[in-house]
Amino acid sequence: MNKLPKMPRLARRDRKRPVVQPQPEYKRFDLLQRSEHILFLLSFTLLALTGLPQKFPLSPISDWIFGMLGGVETARAIHHLSAIAMIIMSTVHILEVPYRLIVFRTPITMIPWLDDVRHVWDDILYYLGFRKHKAYYGRYSYAEKMEYLSLIWGTVVMAITGFMMWNPITTLKFLPGEAIPAAKAAHGGEALLAVLAIIIWHFYHVHIKMFNKSMFTGYMSREEMHHEHPAELAAIDEGKKVAPKIPLKTLTLRRLMYLPFAGVTLAAAGFALFYLVDYENTAINYAPPGETAKVFAPLPTQTPLPTQAVPTPAALTWTSFVGPLLQQKCTVCHGVNGVAGLNLTTYSDAMKGATTGPVIVSNDAANSLLYQIQSAGGHPGQLQANELEFIKQWIDAGAPEN
Ligand code: HEC
Repeated sequence: MNKLPKMPRLARRDRKRPVVQPQPEYKRFDLLQRSEHILFLLSFTLLALTGLPQKFPLSPISDWIFGMLGGVETARAIHHLSAIAMIIMSTVHILEVPYRLIVFRTPITMIPWLDDVRHVWDDILYYLGFRKHKAYYGRYSYAEKMEYLSLIWGTVVMAITGFMMWNPITTLKFLPGEAIPAAKAAHGGEALLAVLAIIIWHFYHVHIKMFNKSMFTGYMSREEMHHEHPAELAAIDEGKKVAPKIPLKTLTLRRLMYLPFAGVTLAAAGFALFYLVDYENTAINYAPPGETAKVFAPLPTQTPLPTQAVPTPAALTWTSFVGPLLQQKCTVCHGVNGVAGLNLTTYSDAMKGATTGPVIVSNDAANSLLYQIQSAGGHPGQLQANELEFIKQWIDAGAPEN
């Protein structure tokens, strides 16, 4: 590591001046990588904003977020859509990395290696004061590699446990019932871990320790490279980082080798998405509160009008009107062996009256118990006013049978 170039010493007059931002010099991320980062950032944020309130539904912040979104249903829909976006993004990454490895033979730089163990050791010595400077990182520091690997691990865990909760019935074909609450616990716990890792670890490294814009601009200045990736900068300066020219024929051959892998990946991703989006609907829909319902419904005191046509007074007899009316409205209770010994099925039964005596006194409705009880209102089987009026007329007319 002693090959590391020294930073050019600044002339005295330059030292006093405010530091001028150096021009970006070293390309770190291409457009595809930057787009993946932005898409991941967006879907991650949406997933966190709609997921954490579901994990902590009783918190006032969750309440506020659900209120803003118009309910937990919307939050759930956004959560599912963002998950689909993240799965698509991850599929792009799964397609991209082997393409770089197989077709361009790009060196693997994201996997921790022996160098990283030494860097960790060097950094521990540095933090304890036994070394003057931190370890000389290459293209990626061990911290960045670990973050990348945790992101992959986290995404896999979240995708699997998310799928289990999204499709519990399918899941239970392969796993016991405990798997669903276990998936829920893992999903929520991993989510919290991921959000805290981003806010504490990632934000500290890329925003607070230094404002690292390279993931958005694609470039890093020489000074930033010198601080963050000195070993890589040294390798670039020594001309070791020039990508070899690959003949078109070789490229085509490698692309053909890559094709089967791409096909299998795309098929698997398509299958997974199809099952996610167009499958089980097992979530219980949220029912808005506030509906009032009567739990006790008393018998209606007003019964509907009789079906038969209202006859003229001349035809007001038991056979033509009174009999059918009472049979319809009273014999449920006052039939054979009726309530209070009253049977209103036939004319003769009705004229016999109840256990206490007759209920119909010919020519005197006012003194007939039937008329009195019905006039009082609120009887379990209640006649309507106009029906009762005809009963009165009928009794006063001598209560004729025919
Ligand atoms: C749902 C059952 C029910 C229906 C239908 C019903 N009643 Fe009654 N009725 C009773 C009961 C119970 C009593 C005894 C208690 C009371 O007097 O309220 C009674 C009592 C009576 C009595 C008094 C009997 C006595 O000697 O005490 C008369 C008269 C009477 N009903 C007339 C009628 C007429 C007329 C109709 C049809 C329009 C009718 N009821 C429909 C339940 C019913």
